[in-house]
Amino acid sequence: MQETYPFQLKPLNYSYNALEPYIDEETVRIHHDKHLKTYVDNLNKALQPYPEYHNLSLTQLVKNYMQLPTKLQTAVRNNAGGVYNHNLYFDIMNKPSNSTPQGLLEIAINNTFGSFDEMKNHIKAAALGQFGSGYAWLVVDSYGNLKVIPTPNQDTPLPQNTCPILIIDVWEHAYYLKYQNRRAEYIDNWWNVVNWNKVLENYMACKTQMW
Ligand SMILES: [Fe+2]
Repeated sequence: MQETYPFQLKPLNYSYNALEPYIDEETVRIHHDKHLKTYVDNLNKALQPYPEYHNLSLTQLVKNYMQLPTKLQTAVRNNAGGVYNHNLYFDIMNKPSNSTPQGLLEIAINNTFGSFDEMKNHIKAAALGQFGSGYAWLVVDSYGNLKVIPTPNQDTPLPQNTCPILIIDVWEHAYYLKYQNRRAEYIDNWWNVVNWNKVLENYMACKTQMW
């Protein structure tokens, strides 16, 4: 069952220092306990006066925010987006490993991009090309194909009828304490903490849901 209002801060599946040395404990602690918590709180605060929308899931809110009353749209776009994006980001990371995409996901990556390294290059280009704050995503599009998409701020690619399977946060709060302005180095190191089992799970769920 999908979560609805009042939304809760989703706990991490790993300890705060599990992503060391690539992402430091203090960054994870502040990012999860402060930044994500603020998005959860602000989303609940924005929705509180609108009981008619309390049965909507996070995904429904993120996907359909344009259908909400004008007064509510910006708050939901930013804060439901902030919760959705961070939930996915924290969910697809794990302690460092040398793992790589497996199974049908590996085949799809090779067919779409030529190789795993080439896919990483596409994500890196999207993440570096995102001026200011935002994200780079690997999604399944409405034809069932893999696609790399950048989004600014807390926007998501859900209104474009896509099903996200992987996301990298390139807001400065995701890397600044350790990497300062070296966004490229953070992106290169981030691959060490991607949980490919989880990304494969997301991929299979997207394919099942769409076909
Ligand atoms: Fe973030």
